[in-house]
Amino acid sequence: MTIERKPVAFGDLRSWMKALRAYGELREIEAEVDWNIELGTIMRLAQGSGTGPALLFNNIKGYNHSDSRCRRVFGGGLSSYRRIAMMLGLPPETHPRELVKIARNILDGGIAPKIVNTGPVKENIITGDDIDLYQFPTPYWNRLDGGRYLLTYGGVVTKDPQSGIMNVGIYRGMIASRNQIPILMWRAQHIGHHVTAWQQGGSPEMPIAIAIGWEPSLGFCGGSPVPKGMCEYDVMGSIRSKPVELVKCETVDLYVPATAEIVIEGYLGIDPSSYMMEGPFAEFTGYVAGDRSPKPTIRVTAITHRNDPILRGTIEGSLPGSFSENAVCSSIMRAATAWNVLDRAGVPGIIDVWCPPVHAGINLLISMKQSYRGQAKQAANAIWGSSAAHVRYKHITVVDDDIDIHDYAAVDWAIAYRVNAGEDDIVIMPSTFGAGLDPSTRRRDRNAALFGTGKWNRVLIDATMNLDYEPDPEFGGARFPPLVWPEQNDVEAAYARFAELGLERPKRG
Ligand SMILES: Cc1cc2nc3c(=O)[nH]c(=O)nc-3n(C[C@H](O)[C@H](O)[C@H](O)COP(=O)(O)O)c2cc1C
Repeated sequence: MTIERKPVAFGDLRSWMKALRAYGELREIEAEVDWNIELGTIMRLAQGSGTGPALLFNNIKGYNHSDSRCRRVFGGGLSSYRRIAMMLGLPPETHPRELVKIARNILDGGIAPKIVNTGPVKENIITGDDIDLYQFPTPYWNRLDGGRYLLTYGGVVTKDPQSGIMNVGIYRGMIASRNQIPILMWRAQHIGHHVTAWQQGGSPEMPIAIAIGWEPSLGFCGGSPVPKGMCEYDVMGSIRSKPVELVKCETVDLYVPATAEIVIEGYLGIDPSSYMMEGPFAEFTGYVAGDRSPKPTIRVTAITHRNDPILRGTIEGSLPGSFSENAVCSSIMRAATAWNVLDRAGVPGIIDVWCPPVHAGINLLISMKQSYRGQAKQAANAIWGSSAAHVRYKHITVVDDDIDIHDYAAVDWAIAYRVNAGEDDIVIMPSTFGAGLDPSTRRRDRNAALFGTGKWNRVLIDATMNLDYEPDPEFGGARFPPLVWPEQNDVEAAYARFAELGLERPKRG
């Protein structure tokens, strides 16, 4: 049963940090920390497997003077399921399985934003020659990065020139000069759809704004595959159960949260002659990826910010033992999106859907109650045929409803004993669209400039019991033999004697 939410409209990043402090989820670092490699290294080491705290760096080398434009960096706000639950207005201990179900509902709803005249983000307005991106304590996150990445968790706002519908996505951006930021964006992302539309209209530039530091739903929704035509601001409204208050930008016709910490406005050059060098960067795959190459570049026309603004950033790239915010949020949102895709396609019997947090939605797990042969293949076809499968769902494993897909051992056991490659349980869908950053794809085939997307050979692992087998009279008409696990009444009788025998029930996992 889905738990009832008590939605919270935090108001801004500061109130979210206050809530985190109250729950013991925030560590404030007062010791001086260097923006150059040290800050990023600390953030990566501190995050753990979804167990680390959110971090606020209050004393950054070179930016700790009273006249610094920006002195603080906040990150890790959503690198744990406890904090995602808090964002959604749920008890912190809510199981990720429930978070997926709630996320499905959030994606289905929407509360339109409200336009207001002004807000704290207009406390400081910088234009023209006064613009200097180096005034922000942008970390050099990793030693092998190509530069200082200012845009790691900002909501990048663009709009479709015909419908006027805005999109908010997260796209990485590196400082190239005082007022230029090349970014990485793929054609198949919604920002890419907008670029195509502006190009077709004959424009060499596209208006763009980046909101940095607001309520947690900004990063959560920006990094999620919210369906095309639906504005992420509506989904944020649905999370907080209140419209997001937006103000108009100073130099572009776009809208940003009125209480954002920092907003960068400008125009994205979409003519290749204006591209600047960007990359590489420590990427979501856990590899340093996204080779150094010319990329579409933002020409910054204004920066607005609150007094004493806080720079919101994140350390990207998940590895075993160190899960990024992207990976933890993706495990919820990409599972929820896939489940909605399966429902809309009419695939029956879906019990649970999950993306483990170590890989940001690359491996998708589905548990289903089969009622006919070929149901797992129907599920994989539905997922891979959806636009949500861009950069996601390379490998799909389908198991029966007796397997808990939140238990790695259970899934592994099902793969060991219910998969027979000679019986069509492994299906390869070759040469589909895919992630341009996945190093298991040859470098040539990752060239999005040549092919518009990466290249993935996708795999279905059908680890369900094969309904193509004959029912076996020896097994009472079942297709597989009985499990070694004792019958329930024998289990209860044995457990009843455990204390007498000096035994304890083993814990699972
Ligand atoms: C921390 C973080 C960094 C990301 N960086 C990029 C990026 O540099 N380029 C990109 O195309 N997508 C990036 N993504 C993924 C997109 O934000 C994500 O696919 C999102 O759904 C895109 O928005 P859209 O659905 O509106 O296209 C990133 C996501 C996160 C959470």
